[in-house]
Amino acid sequence: MCHPHSEDSCLDGLTSVAIEAARRAGAVLLERMQTGFCTEHKQVINLVTDADHQAEQEIIEVIRDSFPTHTVLAEERGLTEHAPSRYKWVVDPLDGTTNFAHGFPAYCISIGVECDGRGIIGVVFDPTRDELFTAQIGQGAQLNGVPIFVSTTQSLDHALLVTGFAYDIRETSNNNLNHFVRFALKVQGLRRTGTAALDLCYVAAGRFDGFWEVKLNPWDMAAGVVILREAGGRVTDFAGKSHSIYGQELVASNGPIHQAMLDILGEDPCP
Ligand code: IPD
Ligand code: CA
Ligand code: CA
Repeated sequence: MCHPHSEDSCLDGLTSVAIEAARRAGAVLLERMQTGFCTEHKQVINLVTDADHQAEQEIIEVIRDSFPTHTVLAEERGLTEHAPSRYKWVVDPLDGTTNFAHGFPAYCISIGVECDGRGIIGVVFDPTRDELFTAQIGQGAQLNGVPIFVSTTQSLDHALLVTGFAYDIRETSNNNLNHFVRFALKVQGLRRTGTAALDLCYVAAGRFDGFWEVKLNPWDMAAGVVILREAGGRVTDFAGKSHSIYGQELVASNGPIHQAMLDILGEDPCP
């Protein structure tokens, strides 16, 4: 258990359990990619596979073994809270389900931990590349144990950005296509990988310079925002105000290009 007077060992203990859970889930996903999986439709273009559920079960068992009293918010089963706890684990067992279902190797496991509502640990594991992104609040961010930092790109002309689209893209005009078009004409390159948690880690590692999305869920962001901040990046909502994983908007960047991204997101779509 974590004791308030031993915050460092607490962070280390939480991190090692998060890593163990992410690696165990990663092994499940790689195995299911080989042996096969079943796909269900939550909605027309929103899939879930039985590998998502199996990976989530694995993660929850690892967390429960070490921290049975902690609250867990996991994408597929929602909130589990036995009693009020200072600690909340926010879990996406498979971020990039559409990629996984198509055999496109861009997906990850994302595990964040909050203490008293503040993100303190981020662990994101890409099993296909064996890349483990980790961060503890105040301790920097690492990729496979090596410190990572955001890029120093100063302008959108030189920036490689990434974005994504929510599953309600056909049902609403707030579907990011307007922003996508405007950014496409201002940046060096624009990508859509299909895994928001890895997108955040790639900004943290300087592989992308910025990332935005209109509608994300807490489990997409919880780990990645800790990793990004610890790598020196900036994250806000579209108005430049402080970011919450319980709000939907996210603008993440290396810092120098942040205001330029906010300016584009704030442009009137119908001038
Ligand atoms: C999705 C991915 C995608 C993002 C979507 C998310 P899922 O998560 O992160 O990149 O654009 O908004 O819902 O469904 O693959 O866990
Ligand atoms: Ca997700
Ligand atoms: Ca998911």
